[in-house]
Amino acid sequence: MRNSSKTVELLATDNSIAIIGLGYVGVSTALCFSSRGFSVIGVDVDREKLTGLRKGRSPFSEDRVTELLSEAREKHTIEFTDDFELAVRKSDTIFITVGTPSTRNGSIDIAQVKSAARSVRRALGGHDGRNKLLVVKSTVVPGTTNGVVRPTLNGGGGGRTNLGLAVNPEFLREGSAIADTLSPDRIVIGADDGESGERLVALYRRFYGERMPEVLMTNVVNAEMIKYASNSFLATKVSFINDIANMCEKIPGADVKVVSRGMGLDGRIGRRFLDAGLGYGGSCFPKDVRALLAVADRSGTELRVIRAAHQTNALQPLVAIALARSLVGSLRGKRVALLGVAFKPGTRDVRDAVSLKLVRELRKRGAEVVVFDPEALSNAKKILGGAVAYAKSIEACIRGADCCIIVTEWDSFRRLLPEDFSKMRTKALVDGRRILDPNLFLNKMKFAAVGYGKSSR
Ligand code: UGA
Repeated sequence: MRNSSKTVELLATDNSIAIIGLGYVGVSTALCFSSRGFSVIGVDVDREKLTGLRKGRSPFSEDRVTELLSEAREKHTIEFTDDFELAVRKSDTIFITVGTPSTRNGSIDIAQVKSAARSVRRALGGHDGRNKLLVVKSTVVPGTTNGVVRPTLNGGGGGRTNLGLAVNPEFLREGSAIADTLSPDRIVIGADDGESGERLVALYRRFYGERMPEVLMTNVVNAEMIKYASNSFLATKVSFINDIANMCEKIPGADVKVVSRGMGLDGRIGRRFLDAGLGYGGSCFPKDVRALLAVADRSGTELRVIRAAHQTNALQPLVAIALARSLVGSLRGKRVALLGVAFKPGTRDVRDAVSLKLVRELRKRGAEVVVFDPEALSNAKKILGGAVAYAKSIEACIRGADCCIIVTEWDSFRRLLPEDFSKMRTKALVDGRRILDPNLFLNKMKFAAVGYGKSSR
């Protein structure tokens, strides 16, 4: 049933928000708004997820999410539904936060964004969208909002909606999603008409009050570009320090940790995202770098620096294998224990995790692999299946192994001492994340670390 335009205007209030797509970004955004008194409707097509959320169960492990979810349930400030029409009708501002997964050729699949825009159009019924604002928060490549979202909202037939439209890229990190949303470094708003941009700024002013972060207002396409340029820059920073690490390893006495600290003290360089390791993973950097490269290819631009960062990252997990071989020789028939499967600590997420690449490469070389992760084992099982053995503890993972590789820098791994490795068949350890002090290990067992040039090998 279609809603009359009158109903639409009657139900929406200035502080009513719909969030379409309840992944990391959607749930975190929804909970932060609801925690500050906004009335929020979260929309998703996944009924199982909706049922869980209604019962206060978070679909992922994330600091403070469960706590905010139960607060929101008590105060009735949040509603979860698969009814787009209801959500659009009752809301003043509609955020699209659906996923934009990678396709085989590296571009992004915007089917969910299109479908959300179509649902919004349908949900508006006869109403022309006046007084409402649609905000694209999903990560979309430059040109998508004006080239795909806007025409979809207009119905594709040359019609015109008066729905406001803005792009508002998200910069939150998994593991600190709530904290990042509550105090971001900046807010980027892209709008091609002044009114849409001003409306979104006004919404954020109500949300942040006196702690309003710096806002950059620009056009739609720049806002889309800023998201990709930011993630690609951070990915490049990681690959840069990994390149330096790979060189340090070959120079006796060199240590990338010291080099990185020394570089980071220069305010122009900055300390963050200069931790060398086995490469970046997760659902964002690899996907966004690939997508930007694909768009650049199509426009005839060669992004040489970003392509190099991407290539360095693809090869970086192999550093762990080279280091393991330097300690124990051929890996054929050897048992290799991997500590950490999650793409970074503080999350259960294993999407595009370095650990997955490492497992493939180790098995290719005939190694038998056993893995342990404090949080991500059940997600790992869904992807790795019977390819590896799963250990229930650090001790069980390394017992009887010929080599252990630290893949994710969980806190519990930082506390490891040489005696914790005494039950290994061959006491050999590769620190792939530079979380252990080489001086504690070098005289007690075979030890190698990313970016650490041993004085005598
Ligand atoms: C990243 C960005 O940091 C967020 O700003 C952005 O909003 C998000 O992507 C997104 O596009 O949605 P996230 O993927 O959660 O956030 O993870 P990061 O903390 O950025 O780490 C990404 C990868 O880089 C991890 O595998 C991490 O281990 C690796 N990394 C990070 C390093 O190897 N070294 C570093 O110094 C920093």
